[in-house]
Amino acid sequence: MWHTPFLRISTGVPRMSRLRNWLADYQATGLPVIAQVMGTDGGRLAATGGRLHQLGVSCVDVNCACPSPTVVRNQSGGARLKHPEWICDTIHRLRESCGNKGVSVKIRIGFESASEFPRIAEALRKCRPDIVFLHFRTVQEMYGPVPGGWQRFRMARELLEGLTLVGCGDVCSVEDVSRLASICPGLDGVSVARGLLRDPLLLRRIEHGCGGELVEGAGDALEFLLEIARESGRPAGADNGFVLKLARAMFGGEHEHFLRIADARNVGNTISYLEGQVRKQAQE
Ligand SMILES: Cc1cc2nc3c(=O)[nH]c(=O)nc-3n(C[C@H](O)[C@H](O)[C@H](O)COP(=O)(O)O)c2cc1C
Repeated sequence: MWHTPFLRISTGVPRMSRLRNWLADYQATGLPVIAQVMGTDGGRLAATGGRLHQLGVSCVDVNCACPSPTVVRNQSGGARLKHPEWICDTIHRLRESCGNKGVSVKIRIGFESASEFPRIAEALRKCRPDIVFLHFRTVQEMYGPVPGGWQRFRMARELLEGLTLVGCGDVCSVEDVSRLASICPGLDGVSVARGLLRDPLLLRRIEHGCGGELVEGAGDALEFLLEIARESGRPAGADNGFVLKLARAMFGGEHEHFLRIADARNVGNTISYLEGQVRKQAQE
C-alpha cells in the first residue's frame, strides 16, 4: 500500500478538489492508500480525515514524528509527542469524523528521550489507533546513529500490547528485517523509506524474504527513474532536480548515472538518457 508524505493542515480544511488531486496519482495505481496529515488543530485534522475517507483512502495517518526544525518550531510533527493527551484527543476526533474507518499514527519513541515513551503509549492505549507506525529514534536524534536503537522496539511492543505495531528506521535489506525480527519478534510489520530510494526492489525483496513471490524485473532502478521522470508531468525543458536527488540516493554522487543525469540538466535530456540506458540494459 501507499503511505503518502504528510499533507500540512494549517489555516483551513482543504477542499475536496484539492484532496482529490493530491490523491490522484496514488489512487490511479489501484493500491490502498494511507493518507498522512500533519498539523496542530485536531478539529481541522479530523475534518480533513473525514474528507479523505470520503475520497476512498483506507486509512488516515497523523504525523507526530517529523523532526524537521521548521515543522517542530511550528509545534507540528514530532513536537506533538510532547502532548500525548493531544494525540489521544485527535485520534478520537478522527474516529468520529471518519465514521470509524481506518485511523493510524506515525510516531517516534519520544521527543527528547525514549523515557517519554510510557506516557505516549498510555495515550495510545486509550485512543487505540488501528496502526502505530514507530520510528525508533527520538525527534532530537533526527537521523543520527543510535547504538542498540532497535532494542527500543521491545519496550514499545510491551507497552502497546494488542495494538498493531509497524517498526521503521534503518531497515535497508532483507537481512535487516530478519535481524529486527529476532530482536523484536512481536512487530506486526516493517516500513522502509531511505532504503527504498536506494533500492526500488526492496519491498519486493522483503516480501519474498517473508515467503511471498518475487516479481522479476519489477522495480529496476533505471526503469523506476525513467517512469518518475516521464510521469512527473513536467515539460521537457524543466529542471530535473527531483530525478537528480533520487539518482544520488540510489546510486551515490560518484556514479556515472548520477553524473550523466546532472549533465542532462533538464527533464527531456534526462528521459533520453534513461531510455538509452534501459534499452542497453535490455539488450545485455
Ligand atoms: C526524504 C524523506 C521524506 C520523508 N517524509 C516523511 C513523511 O512525509 N511522513 C513520515 O511519516 N515520514 C517521512 N519520512 C520518514 C520515514 O518515513 C521514516 O520514518 C524514516 O526515514 C526512518 O526510516 P528509514 O531509515 O527506512 O528511512 C521521510 C524520510 C525521508 C528520508
